[in-house]
Amino acid sequence: MNENLWKELEHFALGCTACELCKTRKNVVFGSGDPFSRLWLIGEAPGSTEDEKGLPFVGQAGSLLDGFLTKNGFKRDSLFITNVIKCRPPNNADPTDEQKDQCFPILTAQLSIGKPKYVLALGRHAAEALVPRPFKSIKEIRGQIIQLDEVKVVVTYHPAAVLRNPRLGEIVDHDIQMMSKLIAGE
Ligand code: URA
Repeated sequence: MNENLWKELEHFALGCTACELCKTRKNVVFGSGDPFSRLWLIGEAPGSTEDEKGLPFVGQAGSLLDGFLTKNGFKRDSLFITNVIKCRPPNNADPTDEQKDQCFPILTAQLSIGKPKYVLALGRHAAEALVPRPFKSIKEIRGQIIQLDEVKVVVTYHPAAVLRNPRLGEIVDHDIQMMSKLIAGE
């Protein structure tokens, strides 16, 4: 990975004013962990705790995610975690198409510099950003290995969905375990 390019991209993202979210954010949440890692996790957008701290998945959904990661042998610091949208949509609103269009080039640039081999897409927005085929629900595409150019993508439910419906936890655990076995087997 080209570290200088990565730093330039981060510098650009931290000053980004491409959409109105720059007016309400406290921090741009560029990502955390190791961008050299083979495995990246991609979520939706920062919530209020993430906006405060400038780090992804450090609120309630993040604690739940940490539990799934630890259970399946992953250390948070040894993978890279980011979101489709880098700034918090106020009131935890769904990101708009315009916000996604403005922000997506940052994720695309991150992916082309970091070149992960595996991506775990958390929830609908990450799946829509990464998987070109149309789908009606996460149920249709989760738990499969989707090969996109050089990257193997596994889609699962967003941890926030598990907070709302704890029964989904078993499925997320299964999908993360699948990713763990996939990486171990290659
Ligand atoms: N939800 C997300 O999708 N990302 C975060 O960083 C936090 C909550």
